[in-house]
Amino acid sequence: MENIIEFNDVHKYFGEKKVLKGLDFAIKEGNVCVIMGPSGTGKSTVIKLMVGLLKPTSGKVIVEGVEVAKTDEKELLSLRQKIGFAFQFGALFDSMTIEENISFPLQEHSNLTKEEIKEEVKKSLFMVGLIPNEVMKSFPHQLSGGMQKRAAIARTIILKPDIILYDEPTSGLDPIASDLISRLIVKLQKELGTTSVVISHDINESFKIADQMIMLYDGKVLANQKPDFFKTTDNPIIRQFIDGISEM
Ligand SMILES: Nc1ncnc2c1ncn2[C@@H]1O[C@H](COP(=O)(O)OP(=O)(O)O)[C@@H](O)[C@H]1O
Ligand SMILES: [Mg+2]
Repeated sequence: MENIIEFNDVHKYFGEKKVLKGLDFAIKEGNVCVIMGPSGTGKSTVIKLMVGLLKPTSGKVIVEGVEVAKTDEKELLSLRQKIGFAFQFGALFDSMTIEENISFPLQEHSNLTKEEIKEEVKKSLFMVGLIPNEVMKSFPHQLSGGMQKRAAIARTIILKPDIILYDEPTSGLDPIASDLISRLIVKLQKELGTTSVVISHDINESFKIADQMIMLYDGKVLANQKPDFFKTTDNPIIRQFIDGISEM
């Protein structure tokens, strides 16, 4: 398997504040990689570096063989079409129906007819476990939080991205809705071969989905291992983080 994402000695400073202090890791194509760490350690920053929303202060971020910070506008656009970004807070447009929301990327980026787009919207909704006829004409606020997140993921997958980045996809959801999102991430991996990068505070959900887990601490990679390592390690910082969270 190839590395689809690589961080080589990545530093990111905001003014005086040194958030990332030399990150090195790679994510293999088709894997689900969970990134964890205390609040404010730079997890969202890592994701923004992957899509070129931020540039590293030094070091290289390489996605699909391309150094993100060195791309011109055209290359960056083409890279972003291969990467789906499921934002932390919803991200559906409130004033559009679910159908309009999900068809939006295809209207922007494809030459499909109206009918073809409708078919793709239906396929995407089925994929995330929503019944098209029940939700297409609804507005986001008419759906539950978990359904809204799934609709947002349906919009992300309609462009068939190679990589999906999820920033805390289960935050604010109850355990049942969280579990549905976790299953969906694994289903997209199995059926579409999607590589997933998931930032998560939910350690139990993370253990269910991860092939690889990276723990960030004090601006560095504290551990980059398979889930079993995190279940059994004696490292006190990791234990405190994992046991502390799962007791919540
Ligand atoms: N655009 C920015 N300008 C200045 N500081 C920022 C910016 N983005 C993030 N930060 C700071 O960087 C640190 C890490 O932020 P973030 O990546 O959002 O952490 P996490 O997602 O792990 O909670 C925080 O202290 C945050 O205030
Ligand atoms: Mg964050």
